[in-house]
Amino acid sequence: MMQKPPTATTNCLLSVEKMSKQLGSSILFSDLDLQLNRAETLAITGESGAGKSTLLHIMATLESPDAGEILIDGINPYTLKERQRSLLRCQKIGLVFQAFYLLPHLSAKQNIALPWLLSGLDPNTDRIENLLERTGMTHRADAKPGQLSGGEQQRVAIARALALNPPLILADEPTGNLDAKHAAGILDLLLEETSLNGQALVMVTHSDKAAQRMQRTLRLESGRLTPQT
Ligand SMILES: Nc1ncnc2c1ncn2[C@@H]1O[C@H](COP(=O)(O)OP(=O)(O)O)[C@@H](O)[C@H]1O
Ligand SMILES: [Mg+2]
Repeated sequence: MMQKPPTATTNCLLSVEKMSKQLGSSILFSDLDLQLNRAETLAITGESGAGKSTLLHIMATLESPDAGEILIDGINPYTLKERQRSLLRCQKIGLVFQAFYLLPHLSAKQNIALPWLLSGLDPNTDRIENLLERTGMTHRADAKPGQLSGGEQQRVAIARALALNPPLILADEPTGNLDAKHAAGILDLLLEETSLNGQALVMVTHSDKAAQRMQRTLRLESGRLTPQT
């Protein structure tokens, strides 16, 4: 299997080249290109149904494109076997969704420990304590998701995404289920943490205000990404 060598020495973290994807009879993307640098922050906007979530899932190695090449740190996840791909996902990518997706029967702390368990590693308890502290969730460490507010659940989801310090954080409308006050706090947290750790952040958002806080904004429309100023 031919793979480009890891590009730790280059500034490019994620590269999408000539990517195409069809869902049912509709062509969602055709020859889509996107380059993302290390530590870059990027907003993706667009109408509902434009394909933003699908694009994010493709970047997240969760949904394969029909054609084209995706490289994450120089590795094409879709040439890997499922087990290798899931390990790559654990190491390189942290995911945050609008609907939080915490496991309901596990405590906040146990949810944050999942990335270690999924990677076959022992959870790093010092790091988990630190993540709880940084996300302001220490006092709720033993609470189950059902006992937490939406803002608190998203803090746990962010802590989980940051757990293994992956170079790429992907967030799909992370504040979509939150009121304005909690939304601002969650955005601050995401930007602070990714900037502190030198992580790249790709965030799908409907909010112009949120998009303006990112270094770059691309609008997805008719299967194309257009720079917004
Ligand atoms: N599994 C699927 N099969 C067929 N169509 C789908 C599937 N998933 C999403 N779609 C359609 O693809 C389009 C893009 O969906 P999505 O990526 O969720 O858009 P967005 O996140 O921008 O709202 C929508 O028209 C949606 O109905
Ligand atoms: Mg969506």
